[in-house]
Amino acid sequence: METQDLIYGINGPVVTVRNSRSFSMMEMVFVGKERLVGEVIGVSDKVTTIQVYEETTGLRPGEPVYGTGSPMNVTLGPGLLDNIFDGIERPLKEIAKQKGAFISRGSSVSSLDETREWDVTVTVREGDSLKGGDPYAQCQETLAIVHKCMVPPTLSGTVTKVAANGKYHVNDTIIEVTDSTGKVHPLTLCQRWPIRTPRPVAQHLPPSVPLITGQRILDTLFPLSKGGTAAIPGGFGTGKTVLQHQLAKWCDADIIIYVGCGERGNEMSQVLDEFSELIDPKSGRPLTDRTVLIANTSNMPVAAREASIYTGITLGEYYRDMGYNVALMADSTSRWAEALREISGRLEEMPAEEGFPAYLPSRLAEFYERAGMSKNLNGTTGSVTVIGAVSPQGSDFSEPVTQNTKRFTRCFWALDKSLAYARHYPAINWMQSYSEYFTDLDSWFLKNEGNDFIQYRKQISVLLQQENKLMEIVKLIGSDVLPDDQKLTIQIAAVIRIGFLQQDALNATDAYVPLEKQKLMMKVILYLYKKSKELLSAGIPISSIIQTGQFDKLIRMKNDIPSDKLEMFDDYMKDIDKALSGIVSA
Ligand SMILES: Nc1ncnc2c1ncn2[C@@H]1O[C@H](COP(=O)(O)OP(=O)(O)OP(=O)(O)O)[C@@H](O)[C@H]1O
Ligand SMILES: [Mg+2]
Repeated sequence: METQDLIYGINGPVVTVRNSRSFSMMEMVFVGKERLVGEVIGVSDKVTTIQVYEETTGLRPGEPVYGTGSPMNVTLGPGLLDNIFDGIERPLKEIAKQKGAFISRGSSVSSLDETREWDVTVTVREGDSLKGGDPYAQCQETLAIVHKCMVPPTLSGTVTKVAANGKYHVNDTIIEVTDSTGKVHPLTLCQRWPIRTPRPVAQHLPPSVPLITGQRILDTLFPLSKGGTAAIPGGFGTGKTVLQHQLAKWCDADIIIYVGCGERGNEMSQVLDEFSELIDPKSGRPLTDRTVLIANTSNMPVAAREASIYTGITLGEYYRDMGYNVALMADSTSRWAEALREISGRLEEMPAEEGFPAYLPSRLAEFYERAGMSKNLNGTTGSVTVIGAVSPQGSDFSEPVTQNTKRFTRCFWALDKSLAYARHYPAINWMQSYSEYFTDLDSWFLKNEGNDFIQYRKQISVLLQQENKLMEIVKLIGSDVLPDDQKLTIQIAAVIRIGFLQQDALNATDAYVPLEKQKLMMKVILYLYKKSKELLSAGIPISSIIQTGQFDKLIRMKNDIPSDKLEMFDDYMKDIDKALSGIVSA
């Protein structure tokens, strides 16, 4: 039976009920005659406080509040992929179809399409004993992805009834499991899970495999591991969204969960359009086949934005449990933090730094800690990688959201206002950014890309650091006074910056670059550096070396050498030999 009580006060998304003992903390409730979705966020003797995930205008004191007896949860099952939801998993396309508008109130539309039929193969037999996480049925959710229906983590027992293979709806019973107390549990194609509780795993595994992104500066200088965490802080217009889109399009995760949090509505519809046009190289299918979008654009209710990142990560964990590598992008977590601040203000909580609640750090930690590579309950291995954009006001990284995100993430890809202004994209500042995954990933790189890759990366990074120091001198007294070997450092660093670190998201050849090409690009740059250095020690002036045009040629190679013509790099090396020996013999 539903518990019920009456609304006493309404303050934006916050609703209070007086002298009630009906509800428990974190309980999901339905508020008002329209049954708006809400969650209990405070319980005391006198007041129960509820945050409402939908627009509360028109809601009146005295309207009923209904309890559900369970925490805020989402439905997990086939039909999540190739779909777009709001922060509390309401299907936006379906709502638009039924009600005309993109956002409508009330929870009458269920998250997953209940009328759609799935071609189900049952993978267990009567008498089998199952534990939490074990798969019992599967269906082709999209052409790219097989969906496995798994026993809810907290249940175990014996299969006492099995349906035949065939077509079923998400809510049809597929098997029955009888637990040790004799209770029968019908399992359908879907299950529910509370969004604020991590789905359990058998074992957390250390990071060991990189998430390959095809973005040179990331894969080479600041690699992220599968199951790792990364922050993309950047001021207004520095390229956070473009970078998140690049990652979603190209990274080698099986499943993408893209959470657009408080961003512009047209950006989200752009994601939809782009992803349905883009063909995933792995499956030959549109990217939307392996993507779930969660949209909480700036015009949607603020509390749902607060929930959206937990909804997103819960969906991510669900696909991880099937054995997939999942990557979750959240753009932007600052808008999420602002939602937290707004609600906290309405609750008249004591504000901490810049008005954010004192629990901002713990909330951020709870979110990022749900990333990881794991051995799942059913023995498969999967991962959830989390990449959060942060939008500090005026690019001031000392503000609380950036600082706290930095504490809980291990890659820091700092976007730089002046690089963006100079149209150096991606505007990732190579002096400020870092990755803490090098040691975890070295053995993978060693095995898959050889020691060369690691050595090249180190040399490239040393050259950039040397250039950075030299530029301080150059700023003071100009470059003319520098000795030739230092001029060479500056020349080669320019090739690295422009020819290697800059990467145009809108250029078909350059948008994605496989590791092999990244390695060969570094190889040929370092080869030119080494050969030039030899000439310098033989007394040849730097100006003659530059005149060969080899530096400029390497700056252009990212576009001149397509990823499927890597043999061209041999010619580049030979050409360097030829051009440089030409000076010596001249
Ligand atoms: N890798 C890139 N390649 C080419 N152009 C880029 C790249 N990154 C950013 N840009 C350019 O910069 C513009 C702004 O980028 P973007 O919208 O991603 O910034 P943002 O940081 O998300 O901004 P906001 O703070 O408004 O959310 C883009 O429209 C694009 O023109
Ligand atoms: Mg943006």
